[in-house]
Amino acid sequence: MNFCTKNIVIGVTGSIAAYKTPELVRLLKAKGVNVKVVMTQDAKQFITELTLQAVSGSPVHSQLLDPTTEASMSHITLAKWADLIVIAPATANVIAKLNVGIADDLLSTLYLASAAPTALVPAMNQQMWRHIATQQNVQQLAQRGVVFWGPDEGLQACGDDGPGRMIEPSQIMEKITSHFAPKLLQGKKIVITAGPTRERLDPVRYISNFSSGKMGYALAQSARDLGAQVVLISGPTQLKPPGNVKTIAVESASEMHRAVFEHLPDCDVFIGCAAVADFRAKEIATQKIKKGMLTDLKLEKNIDILQEIGKRQDKPFLVGFAAESENLIENAKAKLLQKNLDMVVANDISEDDSGFNSDFNCVSVITATKQMDFELMPKRDLSEALMQLIYQQLQK
Ligand code: C5P
Repeated sequence: MNFCTKNIVIGVTGSIAAYKTPELVRLLKAKGVNVKVVMTQDAKQFITELTLQAVSGSPVHSQLLDPTTEASMSHITLAKWADLIVIAPATANVIAKLNVGIADDLLSTLYLASAAPTALVPAMNQQMWRHIATQQNVQQLAQRGVVFWGPDEGLQACGDDGPGRMIEPSQIMEKITSHFAPKLLQGKKIVITAGPTRERLDPVRYISNFSSGKMGYALAQSARDLGAQVVLISGPTQLKPPGNVKTIAVESASEMHRAVFEHLPDCDVFIGCAAVADFRAKEIATQKIKKGMLTDLKLEKNIDILQEIGKRQDKPFLVGFAAESENLIENAKAKLLQKNLDMVVANDISEDDSGFNSDFNCVSVITATKQMDFELMPKRDLSEALMQLIYQQLQK
């Protein structure tokens, strides 16, 4: 997602979470976004203007009527300049002020003077967040279209445990990316499988593989950002379910198969990204199998979910993954035909820096008429590129 034409005002208010804001500004600048930082007086107790000026590459605004900053950019010009206002951290105080329309400093005045969409990233003590006054302010602002990102739950700087922690800068970046993504896949339902499957042998053992689920989860996020309705059917992973994605946790290939077919009606695109175990135990032992008996293990083949969908008259646009350690392209092309796919994403799992468990992947995408070779790139960027390709194919 190319952000560089976007203008974002980052508001900072007085919370200990303000120490995370320079990282957010740094991430935005790395994407090429134009960032202007506006601080309240209390924010300066937690983080210096100099730090935010250094990471944003431009003077920080904090005075409503400061002749120097007003001369370079008045608060009204700043309000009109913004494509998005993000206040991170947003205290209970600023939330209350914005709700009633108090304009007693630059940030609150800017909010009133701007027609830009506004996102608040709350950070406060759990009791302050839970207080009916704060909750009513949040509700009323949300009804007027202000969006809230977070808060997270967990241990707080004051020692309390509960909701009120500011979400991480990387998560705020995700939300901003999603905000600006063109909604190319609006109205499309996309079902994605991800992660490994686990095939139980007995109460303590199972057959599985090293799939982390990272590629499938990244695809789910990208599809969601493009406006699709996403169902993510995931084997066991360490990953957090992505927001605004219906995530269904399964364990075995049979459970995954069942969940997929349950969600197949009205599906426009199916992406089989899971590393589904090829075999399962013919019988799952109810007691732990004795060491010596393990060699007698009887296996049977799992259903090939992708192939099953490929046989259907009403099949959705079908994308498969081919994780291969040799003859990558030939094997992937064979899979395209054999499983009746519209697209196959081939990745060489013999490379250490890509594929299973890595944050990076290096793939070739093959359709009936084309082969596109991608360079090694982060799975999140690759997933965006793949979703764009799928969108283009859907236009044909
Ligand atoms: O044949 P192979 O297992 O290499 O094919 C990989 C592709 O098929 C992946 O897209 C995977 O998600 C899908 N698959 C499946 N069900 C299986 C095995 C693989 O959907 N039982």
